[in-house]
Amino acid sequence: MTAIPDRFDAFVAEKVDGGVERGVRSLSLDDLPPGEVLVRVDWSGVNYKDALATIPDGRVARISPLVPGIDIVGTVVASEDAAFANGTQVVAHGYEIGVSRHGGFAAYARVPAGWTFALPAGLSPRDAAAIGTAGYTAAASVAVLEERGLRPGDGPVLVTGASGGVGGIASRILLARGHEVWAMTGKPAAAERLRARGVAGILPRDAVVAGEGRPLETERWAGAVDCVGAATLPYVLRTLRRGAAVAASGNASGPALATTVFPFILRGVALLGMDSSMVPIDERRALWGRLATDLRPASLGDDVTEIGLEGLPGALDAILGGRAEGRWLVRIGG
Ligand SMILES: NC(=O)c1ccc[n+]([C@@H]2O[C@H](COP(=O)([O-])OP(=O)(O)OC[C@H]3O[C@@H](n4cnc5c(N)ncnc54)[C@H](OP(=O)(O)O)[C@@H]3O)[C@@H](O)[C@H]2O)c1
Repeated sequence: MTAIPDRFDAFVAEKVDGGVERGVRSLSLDDLPPGEVLVRVDWSGVNYKDALATIPDGRVARISPLVPGIDIVGTVVASEDAAFANGTQVVAHGYEIGVSRHGGFAAYARVPAGWTFALPAGLSPRDAAAIGTAGYTAAASVAVLEERGLRPGDGPVLVTGASGGVGGIASRILLARGHEVWAMTGKPAAAERLRARGVAGILPRDAVVAGEGRPLETERWAGAVDCVGAATLPYVLRTLRRGAAVAASGNASGPALATTVFPFILRGVALLGMDSSMVPIDERRALWGRLATDLRPASLGDDVTEIGLEGLPGALDAILGGRAEGRWLVRIGG
């Protein structure tokens, strides 16, 4: 195994004079937080939350300076826990990673043993990074809808933010499982690519946002995955079929929710909240096992852009500007 260097590169965000300075700096192992497992980071991914961690009013970063990166895929290089031998390929995400302790945008990361698990068989490290927190949340959303009774053949399932991370992977998982998927997107140029992937229909986000917003509209969707929030969730609630549910995970367009109680009390519609950050490790490991098997996204990784640490500012700005398509993967040691 290669020796662990004295110093290594990390992308750091630091609050300075009301703004945030961000860029690649040199860190040492002493800069890393405590934990039983030292990981050489091979891949990370860029999530919306990472972008929020690098802006002054993003309300994500709990320390400064912070190495953001809520996803870590890498190789164990030192461990105080017998469950993680050197050379084990591991995945870690959620909890405080990239929020109140340094995350994956660095050549090395140290994590508590209870927050990490071995890369599931059937996924390459790059696959795992292409899935990341976004894909994990997408899988949890599909799983919860199906546990509640949604089956292929029940009718159209709407996915919002379909060109992004959560929405893109949710649509791929649903397609792989035989659901009729409709995609809502704010990017006209993405429509052709989404159709080629197999989605049955496209809904332009503008049309929905501009809608008149009656408390209830024609029942349309057998289920929905929403990660956009303010701009789309009210519409989803107004148009879900009787007894149907939406798995809501995000606020990419804002956190407000303008709705009435009518979808809930007149149609028995359910709003299922998704939180990927504090899921217990056994549950997290089990869902990753399903991501490698029965919840594996179709055509995984075909809309991925690879960057290095120095490419992060452009990717983070594109995400905040709503220009993201697919997933950015940060190739570090992989
Ligand atoms: N609850 C959880 O555990 C959890 C886990 C992961 C992510 N999230 C949340 O889920 C949301 C999506 O995360 P992500 O990583 O998938 O982000 P992403 O890759 O940036 O995708 C977000 C997508 O939302 C759409 N969008 C609509 N309005 C937008 C706006 N004003 N600004 C930016 N995007 C806008 C865009 O898709 P279209 O143009 O196709 O509409 C965009 O591609 C975020 O709010 C994130 O914090 C929550």
